[in-house]
Amino acid sequence: MTTKEISPAPRVNLKKCTGCGLCTEVCPIFLLELRERKAWVVEAAGEICNNCGHCGAVCPVGAIAQKNREEKVLSPLRDGLIDAETLQFFLRRRRSIRLYKKQPVSRETVAEIIEAGRYAPTGGNRQDVHYLVLDSPARISELGDMCIAFLERGVKVAGHRYTRAMMARLGSKDMAENAARYVELYRGFQERRRRGEDRLLYHAPVVILVHSSLWDTSSAFNCAVALYSAALKAHALGLGTCFNGFLQVSANLSWKIKKFLGIPRGHLCYGTMTMGYPRVSFKRLVKRAPAKVKYLPASPD
Ligand SMILES: Cc1cc2nc3c(=O)[nH]c(=O)nc-3n(C[C@H](O)[C@H](O)[C@H](O)COP(=O)(O)O)c2cc1C
Repeated sequence: MTTKEISPAPRVNLKKCTGCGLCTEVCPIFLLELRERKAWVVEAAGEICNNCGHCGAVCPVGAIAQKNREEKVLSPLRDGLIDAETLQFFLRRRRSIRLYKKQPVSRETVAEIIEAGRYAPTGGNRQDVHYLVLDSPARISELGDMCIAFLERGVKVAGHRYTRAMMARLGSKDMAENAARYVELYRGFQERRRRGEDRLLYHAPVVILVHSSLWDTSSAFNCAVALYSAALKAHALGLGTCFNGFLQVSANLSWKIKKFLGIPRGHLCYGTMTMGYPRVSFKRLVKRAPAKVKYLPASPD
């Protein structure tokens, strides 16, 4: 290599480079260009390279040293791929699990599941998805109590006729009606809670939240993709998960809950899920509504 120190920017071994140009084509931010049939790294690369590692990974002759490149060379074609039918069936079989065994989930297993999220794509390869894991039954129960209290209070306000009238005037009639509809559901949560049933977090042994910077326009998508990847890995390992919008809303709108969870200022929670070993298995698949697909016409009518 031209230098021993591997900086975040790629380094090209000009002796090895064959000038095929693949690295220049895969770089999403134009950090490599072909000059005199060799790949050259542009000057500003050190500051703007996002370390995606595509250049080093694609080079057929291993001429590019890049911080994230692994040395092992993959065998060509379909190495490590799963067939589409198996994948489709796997995706269809994944169902939300709301009945969990009491059996705890080891932290090694949680780490293995989060590992799937770690390899999910992120905007600009920023990899700024933060996972918060609760695996203490007492803490999960405390969180559930706080959420139910918060949701009931919030919905009372949202469901009040003055708030609804105000929302309707502001154009959020649907939101107001939705909130009012949920009042009964929250009452249901509370009533069952009094009977010792946890219908909000489902007595799950593990709760995972993902949070990230409010200022990054990719955060919502980054977190969602990472959490879904983790959920699929959990499913593959024989665990069950259920995403939880109620917890997400509570974690974002209640300062008390946000503080309890230690979610920093400037961060929002973009996804949550309960997780554990399933106490139920589904015997049948279900049908889904057809995809709402539209192609933009080739030219305006
Ligand atoms: C963003 C999001 C939030 C959700 N929130 C909840 C929730 O708070 N409680 C719950 O029981 N299920 C929740 N779910 C699960 C959905 O109800 C479930 O995905 C849907 O009914 C389809 O069922 P399936 O996941 O078993 O295929 C949520 C799902 C998503 C994607």
